[in-house]
Amino acid sequence: MLRSVDVTASTNDDARAWAREGAPHGAAVVARRQTAGRGRLGRRWESEAAGNVYLSVILRRRWEPSRVPLACLAAAIAVAEEAGEAYGIKWPNDVLAPDGRKVSGILAEAEWEGGELAFLVVGVGVNVSAAPALPTATSLCADGTPRDADDFARAVVRRLIEVVELPSEVLLDRWRARSATLGRRVRVGEVEGVAEDVDTDGALLVRTATGPTRVLAGDVELIGRFDS
Ligand code: BTN
Repeated sequence: MLRSVDVTASTNDDARAWAREGAPHGAAVVARRQTAGRGRLGRRWESEAAGNVYLSVILRRRWEPSRVPLACLAAAIAVAEEAGEAYGIKWPNDVLAPDGRKVSGILAEAEWEGGELAFLVVGVGVNVSAAPALPTATSLCADGTPRDADDFARAVVRRLIEVVELPSEVLLDRWRARSATLGRRVRVGEVEGVAEDVDTDGALLVRTATGPTRVLAGDVELIGRFDS
């Protein structure tokens, strides 16, 4: 079930309201533009440009809290796989072009009821035709392949719904296959070291000078190739 709107404040807000009214698992809201698009860590997501993807999918599963981050990884897998082989994922779920610039970000918001997951809204923004004027951002069309934002949005929703049902280890292997993070030297907040793996709950496992560290959330900075 897909709701298309021309302009809205945030598809995540629309999806949450729809989920509260009883929208089923897999229902999605797609907008051509957003006036108040939200990003991770309280940032805004530039959403004025048409020709990009702004969508939110409602996932209604009784997952344990530790399974929820895997649904966010699933969204990044869906975008990277639809974008093409050359696109990678920076932990947890930024999709990067081959030159390392960001083409997509994901904002997941959970609603809990008496300690159980009521639903999860997974918001996906993809710069299909246009990117913000930042040195760190680019668009899919910059690779020379023309793409239609509506088709891309539908394909991402379909693939996300399929990937999110995979057993955890299979899902994590699909993420690993697209990782632009594992094996790289990273900095996440105070933690610096080599990103070695993702844990069963989606945490990033970093080998630091003082030993292994689990990182649950944050912004990864890729600071070089692992060569030692
Ligand atoms: C990030 O900071 O990287 C995450 C960006 C997520 C943006 C998408 S666009 C569709 C959905 N609606 C929002 O307000 N945010 C997400």
